[in-house]
Amino acid sequence: MYNFEYFNPTKIIFGEDRLSKLVDAVPSDTRVMLTYGQGSAIRSGLVDRVKSILGDRIVGEFSGIEANPRFSTLLKGMEKIKECEAEFLLAIGGGSVIDGTKFMALGSQYEYDDLLELLQSYSVGSEINIALPLGVICTLPATGSEMNNGGVISHEDGKFYFNSPLAFPKFSFLDPTLTFTLPKEQVANGIVDAFVHIIEGYVTKNVDARFQDRACEGLMRTLVEIGRKTMDSPNDYDSRANLVWCSTMALNGILAVGTPEDWSGHMLGHQLTASYGFDHGKSLAVVMPALWTVTKEEKRTRILQFGERVFDIVDGDEDSRIDRIIERMRLFFESLDVKTRFRDYGMGQPDVEVILAGLDKYGQGNPEWNRKVLEKAI
Ligand code: NZQ
Ligand code: ZN
Repeated sequence: MYNFEYFNPTKIIFGEDRLSKLVDAVPSDTRVMLTYGQGSAIRSGLVDRVKSILGDRIVGEFSGIEANPRFSTLLKGMEKIKECEAEFLLAIGGGSVIDGTKFMALGSQYEYDDLLELLQSYSVGSEINIALPLGVICTLPATGSEMNNGGVISHEDGKFYFNSPLAFPKFSFLDPTLTFTLPKEQVANGIVDAFVHIIEGYVTKNVDARFQDRACEGLMRTLVEIGRKTMDSPNDYDSRANLVWCSTMALNGILAVGTPEDWSGHMLGHQLTASYGFDHGKSLAVVMPALWTVTKEEKRTRILQFGERVFDIVDGDEDSRIDRIIERMRLFFESLDVKTRFRDYGMGQPDVEVILAGLDKYGQGNPEWNRKVLEKAI
């Protein structure tokens, strides 16, 4: 196991009917701005509930943060922060709203050009040393953003990640009932995303990190057990509670301590979103089986361990087992109605050159693998 340091200051308030605790979570003399997305939190009545709990601590609202939040939208949010002199941001939504709010919390003291440059050079975390505090009410189990210090922001034809110790939410409310209104498709995207967060840390190389391995395997087996069930029975509290906690745990940093990680799948997936508008979860479902087909020699031992411990695939020689394991993962995604090939999305011939150019431009992914992976995913 490698040396590591681990720190996570986000307080989790988990469960049904806990929203009244907002009164204590948000300091009483603080000027709060709410941030949310394109309407789901209004339609569900959640924004009204929050307003009735926090009363006149709320001095402003910024709505309309889109999926894969855009730099230009967030600039408007930062104007709003200045206008209402907010001291605390409360994000109500999924990964996009949370990431967008983190970025606004970090960026509201900066000029437009400086901020864009920091984002595009991946130096937000190293250069920005002052930020507004933020809290989260999470409505979509997927990204783990509710308990980590990262975010991903879209600008023109690129998607740019950042992380900063200042971006950890002070608290996150995880109430499974707030996710009951999600469309099936978004639940499925979230399951795939959480699953892939685990394998990007797990299918790398063996460093004899046994607790981390077993924790990853337990989470992945749980996602396989409850995935379809929670899509079909959205109001089944227990299944949804398990999904909510698994997806938070999948990317709050704890699984990956002391181990190598390889985020090539996400880098490629982000470019599919930037170039073609894929939902984040769907982009990963297309990329991952193809990525493993291309990298199966490098990742051999870990794919075999994954197959044995997550899908109970133990028979046959190693080569045929690896192929069956990759197919089994594909089947898992497909069992959630998430398609795994470009052609299933009406893209028989995606413009591989456009995606590669984007990857090149932003220095993302593993150049040796990218072309082969894209060609395998057709
Ligand atoms: O905008 P609204 O109206 O709220 O609708 C959203 C959106 O259309 C809707 N939704 C959210 N909660 C709902 C709901 N609809 C009904 N009921 C609810 N309870 O769902 C749609 C998708 O929301 P979004 O936030 O975009 O999804 P997700 O949570 O999957 O976030 C995706 C973003 O997170 C980034 C992705 O790149 C992408 O930009 N990621 C962030 C990470 C992080 N911060 O650590 C890691 C991830 O790998 C990922 O890259
Ligand atoms: Zn992801």
